[in-house]
Amino acid sequence: MINLSWGFVLLVFFAFLLNLDAFELRKGQKTERISGSAGDVLEDDPVGRLKVFVYELPSKYNKKILQKDPRCLNHMFAAEIYMHRFLLSSPVRTLNPEEADWFYTPVYTTCDLTPNGLPLPFKSPRMMRSAIQLISSNWPYWNRTEGADHFFIVPHDFGACFHYQEEKAIERGILPLLQRATLVQTFGQKNHVCLKEGSITVPPYAPPQKMQSHLIPPSIPRSIFVYFRGLFYDVGNDPEGGYYARGARAAVWENFKDNPLFDISTEHPTTYYEDMQRAVFCLCPLGWAPWSPRLVEAVIFGCIPVIIADDIVLPFADAIPWEDIGVYVDEKDVPNLDTILTSIPTEVILRKQRLLANPSMKQAMLFPHPAQPGDAFHQILNGLARKLPHDKSVYLRKGEKVLNWTAGPQADLKPW
Ligand SMILES: *[C@@H]1O[C@H](CO)[C@@H](O)[C@H](O)[C@H]1NC(C)=O
Ligand SMILES: *[C@@H]1O[C@H](CO)[C@@H](O)[C@H](O)[C@H]1NC(C)=O
Repeated sequence: MINLSWGFVLLVFFAFLLNLDAFELRKGQKTERISGSAGDVLEDDPVGRLKVFVYELPSKYNKKILQKDPRCLNHMFAAEIYMHRFLLSSPVRTLNPEEADWFYTPVYTTCDLTPNGLPLPFKSPRMMRSAIQLISSNWPYWNRTEGADHFFIVPHDFGACFHYQEEKAIERGILPLLQRATLVQTFGQKNHVCLKEGSITVPPYAPPQKMQSHLIPPSIPRSIFVYFRGLFYDVGNDPEGGYYARGARAAVWENFKDNPLFDISTEHPTTYYEDMQRAVFCLCPLGWAPWSPRLVEAVIFGCIPVIIADDIVLPFADAIPWEDIGVYVDEKDVPNLDTILTSIPTEVILRKQRLLANPSMKQAMLFPHPAQPGDAFHQILNGLARKLPHDKSVYLRKGEKVLNWTAGPQADLKPW
């Protein structure tokens, strides 16, 4: 019975491939602009729309930390380093703080890696606090707004909550001193204490040159229906199961490990990037955090992202029409993933692929060096520019204080 129904699904699948062939579906052949606001917003030029002052901090807050562990240049939180470098030579930078719209404090709070390369956020709160203490005593601008015209890059799993476990992150909340600032972070989930209103959600860092070097000829067809490589269980950190990825990844494995439409495994092959270019759908399920670099990879490689992360807020969601590009599947619907994906009409798939082929979409996902028009750096600046002019309420009256410098866990108050 089961075999019979899989035989049927396979038949449908090959009919589907033939169908795609009939449309002469080839990557990179046809692209579609997103009409209306979205596509246009992505192509905005931020130069002339905002001025950013970069605080000069002792190198122990940034360069020295990087010297100690150059792996920080390649991990998925590396945006904090590249954004600093980008701003130093960007035409939006001003050396005159009096004319600045935004103030930026270059502090590398994610560059503390375990021997295995996993970033630890335990020192981040003290380091951030120390940096804010320094700028608020050496310049008059922090006290003027208590940070409301300052932005910080905090790309950790749960942003400025500074913990990689959700429960602990929620318990901590956003660092008290950052509660008026604009946070630029990878973490995005609706109605979550670690996502403040007005934050800018950005893609995680994925190495642009490396991805570029794995591009395959656009004529190669997409013969894999669903692709995924990664963990289904995290036995080390979640021995009982069910906590990691809220069980969604486990459900993918349990339901589809033997399904021929699903090319899924924990093995990371050397052809990983090539495989994504041969796939129609790429699963982007939550892990410990709602997002992962798979989303960026899927967009770069034109593989339709299947987003399984309830209430996720995707990068630059005010500029990129994610519903048009990707497929959202509720975590509880994972057992029906096969039916959901096989019942998407071919013309809908083709349209998503054409939108994904739009270079401005790919550009917005990358932090290339050197920077290029429309890349993620420019999208961050566009996001900051759209928040201008500042509301009068950001400026405090003389002597007015809002932030509590002694709030938060005692351990965070120790000097860094
Ligand atoms: C800002 O306020 C703090 C205390 O609230 C004070 O210690 C500091 O000197 C002030 N900074 C400047 C530049 O006046
Ligand atoms: C600041 O936070 C500390 C620790 O939570 C608390 O004891 C204190 O009362 C707070 N101060 C103000 C002015 O709210």
